[in-house]
Amino acid sequence: MPHAQEVFGPVLNFIFNLYTKLVTREFKNVGENCSIRPVLNTTNPRNISLGNDVSLGIFCWIDTNTSLKQTPSLVIGNRVHIGAYSMIIAADEIQVGDNVLMSERVIILDHIHDYTNIQKAVIDQPIVSKGKIVIENDCFIGANAVIMGNVHIGKHAVIGANSVITKNVPAYSVVVGVPGRLIKKYDFKKKKWLSAK
Ligand SMILES: CC(C)(COP(=O)(O)OP(=O)(O)OC[C@H]1O[C@@H](n2cnc3c(N)ncnc32)[C@H](O)[C@@H]1OP(=O)(O)O)[C@@H](O)C(=O)NCCC(=O)NCCS
Repeated sequence: MPHAQEVFGPVLNFIFNLYTKLVTREFKNVGENCSIRPVLNTTNPRNISLGNDVSLGIFCWIDTNTSLKQTPSLVIGNRVHIGAYSMIIAADEIQVGDNVLMSERVIILDHIHDYTNIQKAVIDQPIVSKGKIVIENDCFIGANAVIMGNVHIGKHAVIGANSVITKNVPAYSVVVGVPGRLIKKYDFKKKKWLSAK
């Protein structure tokens, strides 16, 4: 008796490939071998670029918001996995490097609704951005992490589950908590990770 995966696997792959082609047809660029699981939410896909081997889990929201500027940019590098239920929306600019692994429910937003006018509800106030977000190559982002605008995450940085990142994260470091705090750093002389305490 063949295993269910052997029977349905190729059919599912065919359906997912077709789905990926359909939902990315208005993207700016889509590399080879990308895989997007249903259901992808995207309303302004024209300024989204995916490298090769990018995979998205179920129910992601990957988008740009054009209310701040006409051509925001969301660029995702090669060999990036974005876990299920994640949300990445650029009103200004978000860059994700190569070989980046994001767990489930990661939120990356370079903008918010302004709240400073007390005469208007926040929902009625314009979008504002503190600046772009860059995530360098080889990073790991834990489940439920939230990354806000004007933040640079250095190469091979590790962001703990549930962290809220509002400031730059150095390369080869581990940052956890709310707000994110440095707990470990790789020492290239000693060739090991050291506690930042
Ligand atoms: C960030 C992480 C990778 C660090 O792992 P680690 O290097 O083994 O860290 P340690 O277990 O040595 O923890 C070091 C300290 O940081 C704390 N810490 C670790 N992760 C934390 C987190 N996400 N939030 C807050 N504190 C955290 C620990 O409690 C410990 O504190 P202490 O020194 O006061 O005891 C890991 O804790 C993590 O969050 N992984 C993400 C898991 C995930 O999202 N999985 C999804 C499936 S892929």
